Amino acid sequence: MIVGIPKEIMSGEARVAATPETVKKFVQDGMTVLVETGAGVKSLYYDEQYKEAGAEMVDNAEHLFERADLILKVKEPLFNDKIGKHEVEMMHKDQYLITFIHPASPVNHKMVKQLAEQGITGLTLDSIPRISRAQNMDALTSMSTCAGYKGIIMAAEDLSIFMPQMFTAVGMLKPANVLVIGAGVAGLQALATAKRLGAVTYAMDIRPAAEEQAKSLGAKIIETSVPEELAVGKGGYAQKLPEEWLMKEREILSEVLKDMDIVFCSALIPGKVAPILITDKMVESMKNGSVIVDISIDQGGNCEITPPGKKEIIHNVIVQGIKNIPGLIPTSSTWMFSQNVYNLVKYLAKDGQISLDMNDEIVRSILVTYNGEIVHEGTREAMGL
Ligand code: NAI
Repeated sequence: MIVGIPKEIMSGEARVAATPETVKKFVQDGMTVLVETGAGVKSLYYDEQYKEAGAEMVDNAEHLFERADLILKVKEPLFNDKIGKHEVEMMHKDQYLITFIHPASPVNHKMVKQLAEQGITGLTLDSIPRISRAQNMDALTSMSTCAGYKGIIMAAEDLSIFMPQMFTAVGMLKPANVLVIGAGVAGLQALATAKRLGAVTYAMDIRPAAEEQAKSLGAKIIETSVPEELAVGKGGYAQKLPEEWLMKEREILSEVLKDMDIVFCSALIPGKVAPILITDKMVESMKNGSVIVDISIDQGGNCEITPPGKKEIIHNVIVQGIKNIPGLIPTSSTWMFSQNVYNLVKYLAKDGQISLDMNDEIVRSILVTYNGEIVHEGTREAMGL
């Protein structure tokens, strides 16, 4: 099987789908690996290293797409301005594609339909089920880990005060107060990072299990009193709350936000729009110079005034809506992503070829297009099929 690793073309994307380390493993497994020249440069993995690992470097993306049986990417297929063609147009029948397709998102519907029409089997990394045997393939979890860590570092950088308590010759400076709303994968990593930097940490979540985990990381819990049967649904995931409970959460937060220096927003129900938990008025009540990092911005954000994709000062509060946070630590995020993708390919391949077992929960969850059809449940629902 020929595996193709194109250079990412989304503006500002520094990651790549394979490292020299995973290339070496693919080659050892008997696969041929094509890497586009310069694909790893922005994440500090260089052509020479890929070559040493056994990759064949290919200068032209179109040739790479043409020759590969399996394309591994970080971002969904996009229009390649340099070549003047969409990446899907460069693909062909019976080819496999593994990437974050984000197939349910309306902006990608046309592209997904085209994948199906061209007979491409598309497998999306954003639907890997959070079950233990899929953990080492779960790129979404890896990227949330990166976002939790880097998001707090970004907030600390914007803060005009120290994070830790400081005892100095001129007196004591209090530590920063950090609140994390939504203590899932990203939120827990944010709590751990803030704690390591010396902040006093607070957490708010509606799932008792998340509260327990936050507590074990030294965070003080802001109780929501949402009944467990309302908060937790199938598979232990959080459920969408009725508006009255969201209002109650906002009331609680109105009291708490005044004392916070950093508010990290990572509350989300998988596959849904992020709940609005912070209003414009609540931001107005926050301390001058405090920071909100709203990483749920791809799903609309937890704060109603977060600017998508950028940072703004609103009511003297620095509000961050930066989208591709894992791309800001590209060496580590690429390393994690590439390991996840390698593990998934290894799981799917039998005798060096991809072989899909339709009875397998992982395969069923991630399969988007197959045999000319769109088969992904969430995507079909979003498209009204
Ligand atoms: P997750 O599903 O592990 O965690 C979400 C948490 O929010 C859960 O613990 C859930 O119980 C909690 N939650 C849901 N509704 C709530 C409510 N009303 N009040 C309080 N808590 C509530 O998700 P994960 O992986 O931690 O991702 C969090 C967010 O970060 C997502 O929106 C994801 O897209 C985003 N993200 C953003 C990145 C970026 O670069 N901006 C990169 C990676 C992730």
